Amino acid sequence: MPVSNTQEIFNSLFGLFTFLAVIVGVIFFAVMAYFLIKYRERASSADPGDTPRLDRVPPHRGHLRSVAIVLILSSVILGFLIAGTFTQVDVLLNVPAECKPTPGDCLYVNVTGHQFYWQFTYAQNSTITYRDVLRIPVNRTIVLNVTSADVFHDFGIIDFKIKTDAIPGRTNTIWLKPYLPGNYTIQCYELCGAGHSRMKATLVVMQQSIFQEWYDGSGTR
Ligand code: CUA
Repeated sequence: MPVSNTQEIFNSLFGLFTFLAVIVGVIFFAVMAYFLIKYRERASSADPGDTPRLDRVPPHRGHLRSVAIVLILSSVILGFLIAGTFTQVDVLLNVPAECKPTPGDCLYVNVTGHQFYWQFTYAQNSTITYRDVLRIPVNRTIVLNVTSADVFHDFGIIDFKIKTDAIPGRTNTIWLKPYLPGNYTIQCYELCGAGHSRMKATLVVMQQSIFQEWYDGSGTR
């Protein structure tokens, strides 16, 4: 079971790439095996007349049909991969309509990269701000506005298969919906200085009621 909608999206893309790669692989090896057997060397074998030789300019071999077939097949496969990728990336980059223009049931969190920690501030209640721990409720849409206070960082949640640059003066928005409570690792993916490798945080996905209790309690502190 996927841990979030983002992992689901990643898996479906991965499945598409693998599916096409397996088809191409099977066809490729089948054709190669066929040629290996069909054109194996026999006593009667002789080089074709247009075989390249050192002492003459090679004649034009003109395999236009083979070139066309390979080109068209490659384009079709790449077309599927490009269309699939852009469709999914488009989903990740566009905050769902239920969160706009008013947040509705969506939880907005401002994520700021610092040398060398992550700061999380809940946009709908900015008194709640934490370092290196991001608590979110399960099965709710979470919108993350990611930026940096100093140098370039890159905010990534490994298991959720989601990542975006944290750049000073700019806000990159990503969103996600967690499906399974638990702890997940958040990590910086951009070399940002001597503490880069230590720049980790924990994503805590909580049951909705427990989260709400925590959220309300933190707000009145
Ligand atoms: Cu921040 Cu690497």
